[in-house]
Amino acid sequence: MKSFEAELTEGARLYGNTHIAWFRQPEHFQGVTPGQFVMAYASESWGETWDPLLGRALSVHRVRDGVDGPEFALLYDVIGRGTDWLSRRHQGDRVRMVGPLGRGFEPRDRVQHMLLVGGGIGSAPLVWLSDILVAQGREVTLLLGGRSAAQIFPRELLRPEVELVVTTEDGSLGETGRLTAPFGRLLSWCDQAFACGPDAMFEALYRVQVDTGLNKPVQGLLEARMACGLGICYSCAVFPRKGGVRLVCHDGPMFDLRELYG
Ligand code: FES
Repeated sequence: MKSFEAELTEGARLYGNTHIAWFRQPEHFQGVTPGQFVMAYASESWGETWDPLLGRALSVHRVRDGVDGPEFALLYDVIGRGTDWLSRRHQGDRVRMVGPLGRGFEPRDRVQHMLLVGGGIGSAPLVWLSDILVAQGREVTLLLGGRSAAQIFPRELLRPEVELVVTTEDGSLGETGRLTAPFGRLLSWCDQAFACGPDAMFEALYRVQVDTGLNKPVQGLLEARMACGLGICYSCAVFPRKGGVRLVCHDGPMFDLRELYG
């Protein structure tokens, strides 16, 4: 676990209320994988002024070769003081972070059909995962759901090989409804599935798994509920149906849905 100051190279509103921020990648980020996250803190500088209450767990969204070396991106909705502060940073500003943290997605070797399922801002870590899986020559279907078109990651920013399926609750883009319906249809096609979104979505996906009787491995990334990200506050505790307690920040954020709901 490493604390560092990340230098912003580019920040913009990408769509709807969703922003992207690119940062210079520190050396210790080598080996970071999709599904790992950073805790990002709102602060004006090192020392006294950063507010630990304004820390947010944000998945690494993408990586790229920048002009001066490797960069990583965070994708986030502006929903409170911390993310509002982040959206108002400028090129060259520094943001205090801790990370990369957690256990990311673990795609199996020698399987071909990969289904990625993102609810709302849950698309953030899946876009990078889709980049990697397509580069490995696998077939990737990305299923994105949101309340409206304003919550859907833009098609033109995905690799062209990615098959995109969209659902919106208001019908403004793609199929009308929730993503559980196409998830049920695509489950028989996929060899492995990866999901990120609100907690209720994971339970709904697991119910579809059970209803269809298809015992496909689904890895869920539970990131929404983290306050400290460091195994200290227990705000991220989850209680698997079989008993016990797991910390999302320490034991996850990736869990097989059967481990939580089975
Ligand atoms: S977020 Fe504090 S213990 Fe996990």
